[in-house]
Amino acid sequence: MKQFFVIAALITVTAAGSPWIPEPQEQQDWMPWLWLDRHQEFVNNSQLHGANLTVIFFGDSITEAWDYTGRAVWDARYAPLGAANYGIGADRVEHVLWRIINGEVDNVSPKLCVVKIGTNNIWGNTEFDIARGVAAIVNELRSRLPTTKILLLGVLPRHNVQTMVLVDKVNEYISILDNGGMVRFFNMRDTYYVGDGVFNNNLFDPDMIHLSGEGYSAWNMSMDALFTEMWNSK
Ligand SMILES: *[C@@H]1O[C@H](CO)[C@@H](O)[C@H](O)[C@H]1NC(C)=O
Ligand SMILES: *[C@@H]1O[C@H](CO)[C@@H](O)[C@H](O)[C@H]1NC(C)=O
Ligand SMILES: *[C@@H]1O[C@H](CO)[C@@H](O)[C@H](O)[C@H]1NC(C)=O
Repeated sequence: MKQFFVIAALITVTAAGSPWIPEPQEQQDWMPWLWLDRHQEFVNNSQLHGANLTVIFFGDSITEAWDYTGRAVWDARYAPLGAANYGIGADRVEHVLWRIINGEVDNVSPKLCVVKIGTNNIWGNTEFDIARGVAAIVNELRSRLPTTKILLLGVLPRHNVQTMVLVDKVNEYISILDNGGMVRFFNMRDTYYVGDGVFNNNLFDPDMIHLSGEGYSAWNMSMDALFTEMWNSK
């Protein structure tokens, strides 16, 4: 059931704002979750457990689904570290930016934030504007959490060769945010995409946006070397 709504979350394209201008997600009739409550849960979690939060994942439904589709890997790999999942289905860049500015990183000082966002902007904004929004997120995190490292992940492969042109462009733009130190960029593209419109289908849901259970194992394996390096560095 939950999976169904998450899929709906990505095929419902709503009017696009400007990705670099923070904006709360508009509550849609089809959403079984109350967006502001989800956000408030995260704010509360940061208030209550801030001292124990060492890693925060920010993103959309693909990140959110670590809570169910990717649960086994999450529980084995990230939960023991003190990780929190701040992913919300249907979120675009501007919504994550708004959440960060409005309390989700108050009272926390994690070692690492893992950020993967932008796929829901793909058909609503230009690639450059999406990248500008992602840069705003990175800047906001850097200024609010100056001792936290940011692992910025590329937008994941999706759909077909036409969409991949857009995804690749966004990732090319945001890759320059990697400064070799506090901010690192990592593109998991090759794990999920063979090229020429051919995907590693076993890693995806049939919608070719969301990930299968194997897709979450692949996510962990793909970013593990850099994640571990950033986790261990001073
Ligand atoms: C957040 O915490 C406040 C204060 O304890 C509480 O009133 C509110 O219901 C909580 N909200 C959510 C969504 O958990
Ligand atoms: C942090 O974790 C420890 C050990 O589980 C627990 O005793 C403590 O209450 C937690 N503190 C917060 C603020 O969540
Ligand atoms: C995560 O990936 C690393 C590196 O490939 C691997 O050693 C580890 O077993 C993986 N963890 C889980 C829970 O899949």
